[in-house]
Parts: sequence; C-alpha cells; structure tokens
Amino acid sequence: MAIIQVSAPGGDYPIHIEAGLLQRVNEHIPAGRCVVVTNTTLAPLYGKALTEQLPDASLLIIPDGEQFKTLETVANLYVEFVRAGLDRSGTVIALGGGVVGDTVGFAAATYMRGVRFVQIPTTLLAMVDSSVGGKVGVDLPEGKNLVGAFKQPDKVLIDPDVLATLPARERRCGLAETLKHGLIADPGLLELAEQPDAAPGELVQRAVQVKVNIVQQDPYEKDIRAHLNLGHTFAHAIEQVSGYTWPHGEAVAVGLVAATRLSARLSLCDEELAKSVEQLLARVGLPTRIGALDPDALYAAMSTDKKWQSGQSRFILLHSIGQPVIVTGVEKSVVIDVMRGLQ
Ligand SMILES: NC(=O)c1ccc[n+]([C@@H]2O[C@H](COP(=O)([O-])OP(=O)(O)OC[C@H]3O[C@@H](n4cnc5c(N)ncnc54)[C@H](O)[C@@H]3O)[C@@H](O)[C@H]2O)c1
Ligand SMILES: [Zn+2]
Repeated sequence: MAIIQVSAPGGDYPIHIEAGLLQRVNEHIPAGRCVVVTNTTLAPLYGKALTEQLPDASLLIIPDGEQFKTLETVANLYVEFVRAGLDRSGTVIALGGGVVGDTVGFAAATYMRGVRFVQIPTTLLAMVDSSVGGKVGVDLPEGKNLVGAFKQPDKVLIDPDVLATLPARERRCGLAETLKHGLIADPGLLELAEQPDAAPGELVQRAVQVKVNIVQQDPYEKDIRAHLNLGHTFAHAIEQVSGYTWPHGEAVAVGLVAATRLSARLSLCDEELAKSVEQLLARVGLPTRIGALDPDALYAAMSTDKKWQSGQSRFILLHSIGQPVIVTGVEKSVVIDVMRGLQ
C-alpha cells in the first residue's frame, strides 16, 4: 500500500495505490450523497459492486468511447446529478479510463461551480497519466480537449488489480506513457516495464510519482510540465493524419522513437539512446514506424500546434534519460528526414 501526497493549488490530495482497494472504497469516501459515474463496459465489471458499498450512492452509466467525451454527455450528467439529489456537499466519483475521468471531472468542476471529485482510474494510462494533475475536459467536433478546466481531485484511488481485465492493447498504450515517464525522469521504470509477470503496483507507483513531481512544480503548465509532452508533437500529428484510427498510446510510442532520433540527429544525445528506446518499445509490442503516413502531411499537422509560435517548431527532446529539454526552431527538412526514416 502506498500513499502519494500531492500538493496542488486548491489544496493537497492523496493518491492511494493498493491492490484490492476497490473492495474497500467505502473507507475512503466521505459520508453524504454521492454519484458514481462509469461507462457501459465497466458498470458490470466494477461499477455495481462499488456503488453497493456506499450507503448513499447512485450509479450513472455513460456510453463507452472517446466519441462520447462531449458537452452533450456532460449536459446529460448535470441533469442526472440533479435527479440524484446531488448538492454542493456531494461527491462525484469517476470510475474508468481517461475518457470517463476527463468527462466526469469536467462535469464535477462545473456542476454548482464545483463539487467534490474522486478519481478511480481503471486503465494503466488513466492511473499513471490522466487521473493525476487536474486537467479535465471534453472534445469538440473541431478538435480534441478543446474545452476544459483545472479540477484537482479530492482523492485518487488506484487498484492495480483492475488491470487484469484491461485488454492487452489498452495496456500497451498505457505502457507507452509509462515508458515516457521513465525516459523523462526514472530509468528504472524502463526495466520494470519489461517484466510482464511483475505485479503492476510498483510500475504504477513509480510512473505516478514522475507525473506528481512534475505537476507539483508546474500545476498550470507554464514551463516544465511541457516535458510530459515528450513524443507528443509527433503523436498528435499521427493521430490527426490517420483520422484518429491510431490509438493515442501507439502514436506516443512512435513519437518517442521520433523524438529520440531527432535528439540524436541534433547531437543532443547519442544514437545508442534512440536505438535502445526503439528496441524496448518493439519488445513490449508497441509500434515504432509511421507506416503509410506521409511525412509532409504529418509536418503540416504539427505546425498547427498552438505552441509553435509564429511557425517556429517546438519539440521536447532528450539529452539523456532523465534529462528532457525544450528545443525550438528545428528545421523542417530535419524533422521530415527523421520521419522518412520511420516509414
Ligand atoms: N487529463 C489528462 O491529463 C489526460 C492525459 C492523458 C490522456 N487523457 C485523455 O484520456 C483519454 C484516453 O484514456 P484511456 O486510454 O484510459 O482510454 P479509455 O478511457 O477510452 O479506456 C479504454 C477502453 O478500456 C476500457 N476499460 C477501462 N478500464 C478497463 C478495465 N479495467 N477492464 C476492462 N476494460 C477497461 C474502457 O471502457 C475503454 O473501452 C483520452 O480522451 C485522452 O485525451 C487525459
Ligand atoms: Zn499522452
């Protein structure tokens, strides 16, 4: 059992990481009215049993999928919250992956100007990434995560046992973000990630710790929180150009290869680092190539990035494992060349 205490602008909150925690959630939820929100996949697996533990809770179920991370889902939740008798003293519990956490967190941030919010992440990605740091929000038809807020949770409850039912492909996507955290700040994570039989608790705990250390220093993403975007400039372009047929974690995996290759190309790190990252990703079953995606189209997608001020490119790159750096003004031809090498 581990408790990581996070200091955040709205107050401190704990992250509990403990196998079997889901069966003892009642010990962690404040008395009073609460609603558990989950999706159609997770309701029968965990949602019903969880809600039954809580003396004054209702279960609300939203459809499963990124396409439901919308204002419409949020609007439906507001109505359900009123019907469930949730007032400002109530608690909203999000049980699910990043989609549930982001959507329900945004509803909790805005319903009655904000109610207590507990995150129970059930994917590896949500455990190590989206449930920590306070970013919540929804997509618009015009783009992902275009509407949102900072809403710090009151608590994050992580039960690594639930990963047993997570589909292997989703697990690998979470592993890509976990490896990203390893590259940013904890080389030991890279070794742990390769031990498929090891209990996931330690992996989760160390990956969470990396994110916590960063968001505590920079809660509103003014500077070093950007390091968490290692590989993501490439990843977002891959997702966009592929029409979102690539899962985010798989795009991140290729993005990590591209970012380390670009780092080596600019002599920030040596070639060996780029090679070892690529081999590691391949060994855990993640993609390392862009395949049929066109490097020019990918570059065009990248250049719409809000952070590329006046067309100047901006990447998070690596000097070495644990030493990320923000680099601006990389030449287009160099970036395209790196992507051609990944075809
Ligand atoms: N807020 C942030 O800081 C932040 C950071 C990273 C990503 N995100 C967001 O997270 C979302 C992606 O989250 P995700 O990767 O968790 O995907 P997801 O929430 O769509 O979950 C993936 C799939 O796994 C299923 N699932 C979840 N837990 C399960 C379990 N224990 N057993 C069986 N099935 C399970 C879900 O029902 C879903 O079908 C994106 O919308 C992304 O924008 C947010
Ligand atoms: Zn990501």
